[in-house]
Amino acid sequence: MRPARRVLHRLTASFDRAVARDAAFASLARAAASPHIRPRSRARMTAQATGAAAETAGAANDSEANGVHAGANPPSCGSTDKGDGAAGPGTSAVPVPPVPATAANKLEAWDFWRAMGSPKFHVAPMVDQSELAFRELCRRYGATCAYTPMVHARLFVESPKYREEIFTTHAGDRPLLVQFCANDPDTLLAAAKLVAPRCDGVDINFGCPQRIAKKGNYGAFLMDDWDTVRDLIKKLHEELPVPVTAKIRVYDDLETSLKFAKMVEAAGAQLVAVHGRTREQKRAADVRANWAFIREIKKQLKVPVLANGDIRSLEEARACLAATGADGVLSADPLLENPSLFSDPPLAPPADARQPLPVAGDTNARLLLEYLELTKQYETPPRMIKGHVHKMVGHWLAEFTDLREWLNHHGGAPKTADVLVPWVNELIGRINLVFRKEGRTLPIPKKSPRAIAREQAEEAKAAAVAEQAREDAAFEGSFFRVADAFRDCARPRVFARTLVRRVMTHSDRDIRHSG
Ligand SMILES: Cc1cc2nc3c(=O)[nH]c(=O)nc-3n(C[C@H](O)[C@H](O)[C@H](O)COP(=O)(O)O)c2cc1C
Repeated sequence: MRPARRVLHRLTASFDRAVARDAAFASLARAAASPHIRPRSRARMTAQATGAAAETAGAANDSEANGVHAGANPPSCGSTDKGDGAAGPGTSAVPVPPVPATAANKLEAWDFWRAMGSPKFHVAPMVDQSELAFRELCRRYGATCAYTPMVHARLFVESPKYREEIFTTHAGDRPLLVQFCANDPDTLLAAAKLVAPRCDGVDINFGCPQRIAKKGNYGAFLMDDWDTVRDLIKKLHEELPVPVTAKIRVYDDLETSLKFAKMVEAAGAQLVAVHGRTREQKRAADVRANWAFIREIKKQLKVPVLANGDIRSLEEARACLAATGADGVLSADPLLENPSLFSDPPLAPPADARQPLPVAGDTNARLLLEYLELTKQYETPPRMIKGHVHKMVGHWLAEFTDLREWLNHHGGAPKTADVLVPWVNELIGRINLVFRKEGRTLPIPKKSPRAIAREQAEEAKAAAVAEQAREDAAFEGSFFRVADAFRDCARPRVFARTLVRRVMTHSDRDIRHSG
């Protein structure tokens, strides 16, 4: 090697070592910094962080000594390599993503998976809810990987304003999968290239069942258009410098579900997350996720598979891993209700393991304070903050209805962290008072003054309608009796005058009816 090239080579190698060391350190240091980590575990993690950094630096040194650039020749592994001990999930050496990564040298499947730390517990993609501040909160309490909310690829390419609001991250926000929805491969690639340097992989949403997805022809509605699904994945697989992953749903039948998953893998997806509900099963909480289908898909795919649906506690996460054989799990709605869901040990043990939500006591309210602090650090739109407030402490607001009124209606002012912190402290005070006075750790829902007034108005309206109906019936019934009486009466003039006076006291409508 010429001297100049040798110097350049050394510089690149030392840069790679620094990047690897920073990445290893950042992830362990982040975990060690969690307030929930006990001092002994914290010390152990810090030691691990230093060790991991040394190990990665050592590995880089070895490859340098062998004359191999640490990033230039990544261990090749992909869908075809499963079963080969060197490439499979059990291999101990952690691969380092190449620098610079290109479409040709990027990590695949199991190397990609292990480079992310083989993460088991994932924050699922959630529109307006898996934003940076929330991801960070969940990572502090056990989540080991996170998806961004779904990003609209075309808007992302076209609108700088949308880009700025929808995608915020920082160096410690890893491992991170950025999710897009799209139906045009070129647009998707253009959008994905913008985020590739700041994430571990780019995910494509093939699971969104909402009307807006139907209108835009993306998400789960591409389950009817396999060619487009294939083209989208293939484009990123062949041209994006980071791996492409896919989030899919199951079909009604196992055979189609398997065929679809295999097609997604063959097109180039390096990781597949499977939501065990069909496109028609929109209201997730009402339908059990089909773990049996996920298990079959996991058995047949060669790339890592994540299971999604019905993960409401760490116990259920573990049960799902065992039942499906999946490599990790995603939680969405339950994680919104309990951001410390993956925490081990749990912050607040569930009173009933079969019904672990809502979280008892003031645990979530305290987590909410921590989340609000994070929103001060990472700018978060008030609508997202409000969504999290409702999810995290909404069950208590069903008892403290005045607090809910304030949250929803107070002057319409944006509910920022500064405004909300005193409100959460008031809530914590009340929750603790309930516990001291009544020993209760869960709320007793009651109606708000607004709901009571609305119900009273509805009751009064229903009573008026019923009364009207009664009068109509009575009047119609009496018409024939009156007619008979008129025919038989002795003084028809007096009778008629009396009748007219009585009739005049009724409304025009009544008279029309009686006629
Ligand atoms: C508020 C919310 C927003 C969601 N947004 C997305 C999204 O952007 N992309 C996506 O693929 N799935 C989205 N989902 C679906 C979830 O990722 C997940 O697949 C589904 O809720 C089932 O998981 P769960 O049973 O843990 O809730 C969303 C779910 C919720 C509750």
